[in-house]
Amino acid sequence: MPNSVKITSRIDNFKKTIRVSGDKSISIRWVLFSSLANGVSKAKNLLISEDVLAAIRAIKKLGIKSNFKENQFTIYGKGIEGYKYKKNLTINAENSGTLGRLLLGLIINTNNKIKLIGDKSLSKRDFKRISDPLTKFGAKFKLKNKKNLPLTIKGSSNLTPIKYLESRGSAQCKSSVIFAAMRTNGTTYIKAKKSRNHTELLCKHLKLPLSVKSKKNYDEINVKKVKLIKPLNYNIPSDISSSAFFIVLTALSNHSELIIKNVNINPSRTGIITILKKMGIKIVMKNMRTYKGEKISDIKVKSSKIIKSINCPPRLNSGAIDEFLIIFLVAAKANGISKFSKLSELNQKESPRLKWGEYILNQMGIKTISTKDSIKIFGNPKLKIEKKIIIKNYLKDHRVFMTSIIAALSFGGDWEVHDKDSIKTSFPSFLKIVNQLKN
Ligand code: S3P
Repeated sequence: MPNSVKITSRIDNFKKTIRVSGDKSISIRWVLFSSLANGVSKAKNLLISEDVLAAIRAIKKLGIKSNFKENQFTIYGKGIEGYKYKKNLTINAENSGTLGRLLLGLIINTNNKIKLIGDKSLSKRDFKRISDPLTKFGAKFKLKNKKNLPLTIKGSSNLTPIKYLESRGSAQCKSSVIFAAMRTNGTTYIKAKKSRNHTELLCKHLKLPLSVKSKKNYDEINVKKVKLIKPLNYNIPSDISSSAFFIVLTALSNHSELIIKNVNINPSRTGIITILKKMGIKIVMKNMRTYKGEKISDIKVKSSKIIKSINCPPRLNSGAIDEFLIIFLVAAKANGISKFSKLSELNQKESPRLKWGEYILNQMGIKTISTKDSIKIFGNPKLKIEKKIIIKNYLKDHRVFMTSIIAALSFGGDWEVHDKDSIKTSFPSFLKIVNQLKN
């Protein structure tokens, strides 16, 4: 089983400083914005992972060149109207929901049909959530089962602005509609439940005609036609979603301390920090600064002897949406019962994650009670695993793989976790960093 990893012992007693790879959301957005820019854009610390490379391959199919030299990525944009739409073009978004959904907003002005395909996991995910609003702009779609990939899009050069209510808290849908709105004459009005706002911050940095009014639970966003995008040089900060695995590993281990350098701590992404602090984990932010509108800092975390259970307020869900699997491991060691609710979006990810989170916990001997969108986790501060656990057939969801590895390293037992290659989509250096902490 060359593609599986065996772990038979926990790690404790480490004191290290690490760097994790570049932020995936910002990396994909940098590729897409740069592909529309007038001129040459350069990025340092771009995440070199399958999801981002799929974005590079996608813009190449649209006639946009790029190269990678001396740790620097360069994209040669040809302006907002610079894509070349060949007939019978097929674009493969592979495993990436972000790429698939955002790209549809960018190519909404194509008069040629474009086919969008993805891998097995992406082909099970909901694309109706984005074809619906894009149809209102004037695009035409055909989707498999009216909902899934493969789909074909036929856009229009005469798009009308729309009013759009985004009520799931999906940054992918919000961003795709922002991209589409940039191609219309007139103003598009978006009312969006709070979600990650990297697209809006990039628009602001690039001085594009977008304005945001922040209300308590929603943002009101107005977008007007974009005529020109300036080249975008970006030094991409590290990903808090990748950092999350090592924050939790440190919190659950004994006598350890970790510093993670240069992490993006955009407040729309730091739900995990708020949740873990409520559970009693000691986390400190150091060297806080702002870079192109994004907040960045080093994160310092220590082992926690006592972990409190949590009744997690659903308002924190969107800011921690990619971290719940790893947060569930902390709840497994908490003193008491933790409750997480209104998590239906978790089953819309690369795998049905609420289900997989519960499966991992149950394999570990943790009692859970779940509904289709909530879970109660009965924590056990003395948890020590002594049995064999095999994790496989989980649609190669990278976060299921990494969560299982962290569980093995934190609670012991004899683990065999399949589909190691899944980490290539978001965090190819994950296992290297695990080894760095072991030595
Ligand atoms: C992302 C948005 C989130 C997140 C995904 C990345 C983005 O998805 O889960 O990993 O970069 O916009 P949703 O928009 O579907 O919530």
